[in-house]
Amino acid sequence: MPRHVCIIMDGNGRWAEQRGKLRVSGHRAGVETVRAIVQACAENKIEVLTLFAFSSENWRRPAQEVGLLMELFITALSHEVKKLHANNVRMRIVGDVSGFEPKLQQSIRDAEALTRANTGLTLVIAANYGGRWDITQAARSLARDVAAGTLAPEAVDETALQARLSLHDLPEPDLFIRTGGEQRISNFLLWQLSYTELYFTDVLWPDFDKQQFALALASFAQRQRRFGRTGKQVEQLIRA
Ligand code: IPE
Ligand code: IPE
Ligand code: MG
Repeated sequence: MPRHVCIIMDGNGRWAEQRGKLRVSGHRAGVETVRAIVQACAENKIEVLTLFAFSSENWRRPAQEVGLLMELFITALSHEVKKLHANNVRMRIVGDVSGFEPKLQQSIRDAEALTRANTGLTLVIAANYGGRWDITQAARSLARDVAAGTLAPEAVDETALQARLSLHDLPEPDLFIRTGGEQRISNFLLWQLSYTELYFTDVLWPDFDKQQFALALASFAQRQRRFGRTGKQVEQLIRA
């Protein structure tokens, strides 16, 4: 079982278009899928679920779609948070939150504060997130400390940079899932995906369900994660 699953929830727009509906109805249907997959993660005792909800490039979409996505985000947060809290889910939003309107920023802070002490599934929502942004803000934070004289340039290593990334205190993603048929990362977690197992499916996000999720978990269970070692070494490590 993976400890940390991260998902690019793609295909909402095409799902709606195939039904002759507006793209936003696909995003609405996608919220239902989020509910089901959060539940599936809790049932499988997965520790962390990270969902890509809005990329730093999604601002390029038509203003109307962006506006509707923001509205949906606000309503979903206010409607779901109590239930998530009751289910012991800890919520965290990662990304450049300062890009959102004040009302949404407040909902985000409230949701995080309410669920902070929960000990069940950690649900991370990546919103206005970009992998390059994440690495850049970490580098900027290191540069500040070096300039202030509190960090030696020689102390800037992988561990120091990693410690300033958005997900620094969580296990690295074990399994990455992208729905909707595209086989790319689209500026999602870049640093963190170094050794993550990748799983792509043509199923559109609103059609993704617990059975589809089980298929992804089954695929993950078949993989041999070698982290640079040989297959034989890994077998020996498992037996030891
Ligand atoms: C993913 O679905 C949701 C967001 C990016 C917010 P899309 O809206 O990208 O759906 P497609 O790829 O156009 O079908
Ligand atoms: C990635 O999907 C972002 C989210 C799911 C939030 P996109 O639909 O924006 O990705 P591209 O543009 O097809 O690469
Ligand atoms: Mg898409």
